Amino acid sequence: MKNIYIETYGCQMNFADSEIVASLLKKEGYELVTEIAEADYVLINTCAIRDNAEQRIRKRLRELRAQQARHSQMRIGILGCMAERLQSQLMVEEENVSFVVGPDAYRRLPEILARVRQLGVKAAETELSTTETYDDIEPVRLGSNGISAYISIMRGCQNYCAYCVVPYTRGRERSRDPETIVAEARSLCEQGYKEVTLLGQNVNSYRWKCDGGEVGFAELMERVAEISPTMRVRFATSHPKDLSDRLLEVMSRHDNICKCIHLPVQSGSDRMLKLMNRHYDSAWYLDRIAAIRRYMPDCSITTDVIAGFCTETEEEHRMTLEMFSKVRYDYAYMFKFSMRPNTYAEKHLKDDVPDEVKTRRLEEIIALQGQIALENNRREVGKVYEVLVEGESHRSKERLFGRNSQNKVIVFDRHEVQPGMYVRVRVVDCTAATLLGELCTQ
Ligand code: 5AD
Ligand code: SF4
Repeated sequence: MKNIYIETYGCQMNFADSEIVASLLKKEGYELVTEIAEADYVLINTCAIRDNAEQRIRKRLRELRAQQARHSQMRIGILGCMAERLQSQLMVEEENVSFVVGPDAYRRLPEILARVRQLGVKAAETELSTTETYDDIEPVRLGSNGISAYISIMRGCQNYCAYCVVPYTRGRERSRDPETIVAEARSLCEQGYKEVTLLGQNVNSYRWKCDGGEVGFAELMERVAEISPTMRVRFATSHPKDLSDRLLEVMSRHDNICKCIHLPVQSGSDRMLKLMNRHYDSAWYLDRIAAIRRYMPDCSITTDVIAGFCTETEEEHRMTLEMFSKVRYDYAYMFKFSMRPNTYAEKHLKDDVPDEVKTRRLEEIIALQGQIALENNRREVGKVYEVLVEGESHRSKERLFGRNSQNKVIVFDRHEVQPGMYVRVRVVDCTAATLLGELCTQ
């Protein structure tokens, strides 16, 4: 009765957390299985960021009823942000859920699983912590290609953007001991990994106080980058208010720190940004973009944006489109505003942009961004990039795909190349999403 199956939804942070959960349970003798039918426990690590993320989990729970009918010993547990947001209420609403465990309570999972099984009870553990970083847990790399891995460097968020549920589901911000981060990165390097991504909700506010002073994010990046010149380092996510020149300078000095910055803009309108409690305006944001380009002219820039936030006017929406035209992002995650319970927006603002208007605005942003991405990619044709090969192209076994430092996917004929290798590839063609290349022979 010790087989566990883990299913993960949401952001990279959640995927990193599932690897911690797997590690914690393995230590107690649990086995990870890849077939849900073999599972005694199904753990679903959930996202609460938008309503549709939660609806997707609810649908999945309905689907799982059939599995449970066939395997009466199967117990289902909800982890992550939805567990934290809804707590034991979730077990009332979803009868087939036996336990809910929030993001700071994973150490209690072995005990909870045993309790649920032996006593036949339901259990909810959702206390948030101000100190938990799981820094002593070596994650079990789930579904890994053995080439890239995530390292969680901090947890929580206390920026309280008006629309966002994360401060309530993941608690106060806390940084992890840099020694344990560097040790984890070094161990990955020794195991042959070629790329690590340092993760946090707002990595720029990473801070660790020690006897010798303070380690900030720029210093941490430098220490990880210096482990090996052949191990790439990426990071996510940056908050524009805290993106420092010091970090840009460190990035520009290290070839193995990837030239790609994810800088969520959310809106191009100053009134919206203020209402969203973002602590920057469009001029500040554009100044940060200019700084990135000054330090690293070849750096790619990606973003998140929300269409139809409370009281957004047509004019304000156009300002977002203008922002996209000015920055010319390489990639964007684009969302319709979704009102979330307990946020500042829910308590104080009106969700007054009709759904069809939100949809139309979102579509306009998507169309513009599609055009920009294609134009950006066309400019790549003829350039040669160092590519870290990740695997076979989905379309053909004869082709491989990998990424350049800018995180752009490049597909090329495989020849004798193997995943995990660095190769030089010349870009010969493109779509809006992918570059097509030819292997350089020298
Ligand atoms: N509605 C829509 N999008 C949201 N995001 C966060 N909260 C909401 C919400 N309530 C988006 C933001 C954030 C990304 C992770 O999700 O753009 O950067
Ligand atoms: Fe990740 Fe945010 Fe979703 Fe939580 S709510 S899983 S932090 S995206």
